[in-house]
Amino acid sequence: MKIGIIMGSIREGRNGEVVGTWVHEIASGRDDAEYELLDIAEFDLPLLAEPTPPSAANPQYENEATRRWSQAIDACDGFVFVTGEYNHGIPGAFKNAFDLLAPEWGNKAVGFVSYGADSGTRAVEHWRGVVINNYLHSTRGQVVLNLFTDFGEQGFAPDERKAKSVGNLLDELVPLAGAIKTLRD
Ligand SMILES: Cc1cc2nc3c(=O)[nH]c(=O)nc-3n(C[C@H](O)[C@H](O)[C@H](O)COP(=O)(O)O)c2cc1C
Repeated sequence: MKIGIIMGSIREGRNGEVVGTWVHEIASGRDDAEYELLDIAEFDLPLLAEPTPPSAANPQYENEATRRWSQAIDACDGFVFVTGEYNHGIPGAFKNAFDLLAPEWGNKAVGFVSYGADSGTRAVEHWRGVVINNYLHSTRGQVVLNLFTDFGEQGFAPDERKAKSVGNLLDELVPLAGAIKTLRD
């Protein structure tokens, strides 16, 4: 069982990196799955540069970056999306990363860790309606981090309760990903 923890921010000075690293550290202490941190900034993904829609690409892509991304996502059974919130919705670069692929997400599971001025909860509600179009099934649980209370003057400092909520999310995500995997076998 492999879970990809996707850091979905490419912004200069992004908060997503510290949040993604924190989630990965917590997850790496568990023995129920292999957890890999996937940083969309590191993939340098093109913006809608594939001429064939991914649902019809089978999956053959023209860009090397898209091919690398496709292989990384294809190798996972489930995901944690670490998402900020831009203008009450999904950050554009993360949506583009999702839109570039289709079958690679299918019959897998996702849980969300959100952060933002309002804890990113609207972005997660936005995501829930989006991911299902590629047969990606979301957990009920989510982790919410607030820019004012979880990021102090010294930087990112979530309390124990938030760390525990990451564990709760993974407790739900891993069995869900395992159950859904049977649809791909
Ligand atoms: C373009 C933009 C729009 C934003 N819109 C919202 C918003 O609608 N609601 C919110 O709670 N925070 C909003 N924020 C604050 C972000 O949630 C916060 O900056 C967060 O750290 C963004 O993630 P990042 O640092 O990984 O890019 C916005 C930030 C940016 C840059």
